[in-house]
Order: sequence, then C-alpha cells, then structure tokens
Amino acid sequence: MSWNRKHLLDIESLTAGEINTVLETARAFKAVGARAIKKVPALRGKTVVNLFIEPSTRTRISFELAAMRLTADVINFTAEASSLKKGETLRDTARNLEALNADIIIIRHSATGAPHFLSRFLNASVVNAGDGAHEHPTQALLDTFTILEKKGKIAGLNVTILGDILYSRVARSNIWALRKLGANVTLCGPSTLVPRVFEQMGCRVTYNVDEAIAGADIINLLRIQHERQRKTMFPSLGEYTALFGLTKARLAKTKPDVLIMHPGPINRGVEIDSEVADSGRSVILEQVTNGLAVRMAVLFLVNGGKGPQEIAG
Ligand code: CP
Repeated sequence: MSWNRKHLLDIESLTAGEINTVLETARAFKAVGARAIKKVPALRGKTVVNLFIEPSTRTRISFELAAMRLTADVINFTAEASSLKKGETLRDTARNLEALNADIIIIRHSATGAPHFLSRFLNASVVNAGDGAHEHPTQALLDTFTILEKKGKIAGLNVTILGDILYSRVARSNIWALRKLGANVTLCGPSTLVPRVFEQMGCRVTYNVDEAIAGADIINLLRIQHERQRKTMFPSLGEYTALFGLTKARLAKTKPDVLIMHPGPINRGVEIDSEVADSGRSVILEQVTNGLAVRMAVLFLVNGGKGPQEIAG
C-alpha cells in the first residue's frame, strides 16, 4: 500500500493499486470516525482551501469536515463574493491563495481540465472536486468504497449506471474506477445521452432499462445535468421518467440484494421514485457518510501520507 502523488486530478491516471490504497486508507479513517475523539493531527499547521466555483452541498461540506478532522485550517472560497466577479483570472486567484500559504487547493469548476491547469504552476497540492463533465474522482472513490463495504468485493460485480451519462463527470470517474477494479459496467439511458463511444471504455451500452437492471448488483442513478446540456436531449422529463425512471415496479424486477446508489442531488419523481430513494435497498446517505472518510484519506495522501499503515490503530 503506497502513494506517491501530490495531486488527485482524475481516476483515469490512477492504477488499481493506488485506488486500493485510497480505499484502505479511508477504511482506517472511518474507524477513526467511530472513536470518541474523531480528530487526528495529520494536517496540523496546514491550510486547505475549498475553491468551489460551482455549487455543491455534499462535496464542499465533506471536504471541509475532512480537513477539520485532520486538524487543518480551512478556508471556504465563495465565488460570488470574490474578486473573480471583478475579472480576476482563475490563475491569479489560485496564485493569491498560494501566497496566503494554501497547502492544498480543492477545486470545483465548470471547465474540464481546470484542476490539471492549476497543478501545472502551483506548488500546493490540487484536488479535483469535479471539473465540467470530465471527472469527479472523490465521488467515484466513495462510491467504490461503499460498494466494497456492502458487497465485500468489486471484481465481477454487475454495476449499471442509469441516466445522463454523456454530461456526467460522476459516470466517467466511476467507469474508470470500476473497470480498473474488475467490475462489469452497463450504461443505460436515452441514446442521445449514452453514446456508443462509451463501449471503448469497456462498458456494455443498452437502451432497454429492464435489460440493464435485471442482473445488476448495483444500480447507480444519475440526474439529468440540465446545467451542462446546450440543447434538448429528450422530449420531456415525463417521458424520461416513464422510460428510464427507477420506479417501485421496476425495482421489483431486480435482484433482491441490489444496491441503489445516487451521487446526489436526487430529483425525486424524475430519475428515482421517492419510495425507492428511501427504501432499504438505497445506500444514498451512506455514500454521503463514506465521503467524509474517503476525503480524509485523499487529503492525507496528497499531503505526503503513504497509506493506511501510517494511521494509528
Ligand atoms: N455528488 C455531488 O457532487 O454533490 P454536490 O454537488 O452536492 O457536491
């Protein structure tokens, strides 16, 4: 178990071994979270900046809490109240944050490659918290962590990702992680949102939802990413729900131990029935809980930690 990366920019460039190091380290941090005193001094004296230029609830708050649990000083950058509004560039903004001694900059941005861009000139570590429709690496890591925790393995599982795949950074990061760890990945949704080019990533593509979910061990639902779509990709939300929504009737045709996942935010009554979202098969809120341990692991590792062996038992 070892890690030698200063940044976490994507899942595509990680090896299966590196993914497993994050997952094992997260497991150790989850155990820390069960103690009476949940804080460890791993990032004492370090400054972590949450540079979110796009909205977020789960990712921003769990990174903030993760940094606090590691005893770092945390700054939450608010784009709307910043000098970005006065025309300052992303490059200058990031360099100013570094001039204030930021050690780790966590960035969410609507532009693909924004974290990679920062990593080219900053001395600080850069963590990708979602860049456009490209990648959302910590979401994929917390998703695989949750699957591993619930199913005891990843290799050989049938994972169906259902919804707007084309505009989803969660889908891309999940596909990379799941394929590297040996899962079988099926993609399903409207043909305009699930192009067959994804077969080149080793996925099965089908437009028949019943076929997609029948043998699934995991169904990971994605919302329609309206904010990234530049044209109408299907006739109506009502038709989308009728053809691809996970209803109670459809859930009844799945394996009895199927796990229902969703990165959030969920759109109840669109991609998922309320009752399904709140059912015993849903692990949506456990994903959020696991995000804290996974993000503690990522901050610990990019700060120079080598793996779970360094976390006191
Ligand atoms: N899953 C996710 O990225 O949620 P937020 O947009 O709330 O961070």
